[in-house]
Amino acid sequence: MFEVRDLHASSAEGVEILHGVDLVVLPGEVHALMGPNGSGKSTLAAVLLGSPEYVVTKGAIRFKGDDITDWSTDVRGKAGLFLAFQYPLEVAGVSVINFLRQALSARKGIDLSVLELRLAIMGWMDRLDMDPSFADRYLNEGFSGGEKKRNEILQMAILEPEMAILDETDSGLDIDALRIVADGIAEVRSDRPDLGIVTITHYRRLLHYLRPDVVHILMDGRVVERGGPDLAERLEAGGFDEFRPGGSA
Ligand SMILES: Nc1ncnc2c1ncn2[C@@H]1O[C@H](COP(=O)(O)OP(=O)(O)OP(=O)(O)O)[C@@H](O)[C@H]1O
Ligand SMILES: [Mg+2]
Repeated sequence: MFEVRDLHASSAEGVEILHGVDLVVLPGEVHALMGPNGSGKSTLAAVLLGSPEYVVTKGAIRFKGDDITDWSTDVRGKAGLFLAFQYPLEVAGVSVINFLRQALSARKGIDLSVLELRLAIMGWMDRLDMDPSFADRYLNEGFSGGEKKRNEILQMAILEPEMAILDETDSGLDIDALRIVADGIAEVRSDRPDLGIVTITHYRRLLHYLRPDVVHILMDGRVVERGGPDLAERLEAGGFDEFRPGGSA
């Protein structure tokens, strides 16, 4: 169980960006977080990750019964929290497979040889329609948008988290890649039925495949509406206006 209660967070300069966010994700649930540009979605993801860029000024984050609000990113990862955008940067000179080895060792204390890991990821690379040579490329160096996303799902499959936060899951994906990534997420879920997921997305397309249990709309650092997948349909049809405080609804 992953629980965010009345979370307020500010930038290092002291500007409050999140003004009280509540979110409860039960094991096995998929939640979608939607909202206009600048509403605080990535900030929320970064705060859930424990980014030192932000300060939690009020509220708490609980994970499997522990208050993790003050935990470092590393400790959160070890506990089974996965943030797909955790490594968005190019890591010079570290290949995909070596990065995974280090991450697996940090997360689970399992030290596999490159050969063993190669065998372990082959099936997943095939399921995600990734070329085997991809494992030997340098992390994110020259990766296309679709390759980055597939690599994130590969990491999620191998690291076996209990809770995953996926920011901009569908950005930069073409129609086929969207399907592959959505199917990849579905496959990881079928292997790990207790995995909880929060996916941040701008479009209904991904949700059509993922079928979230709950859709949250974040505006100006607050969840202003919650509902089922139909909420994403309403959003697509009418935009954010009706959800704005003082809007037409
Ligand atoms: N470190 C920071 N310092 C100052 N302001 C910040 C910082 N991080 C985010 N902000 C501001 O907080 C607001 C929310 O940003 P955030 O990136 O969370 O939005 P978002 O919902 O992810 O938007 P998008 O849909 O464009 O990705 C924006 O106005 C942004 O400029
Ligand atoms: Mg964002």
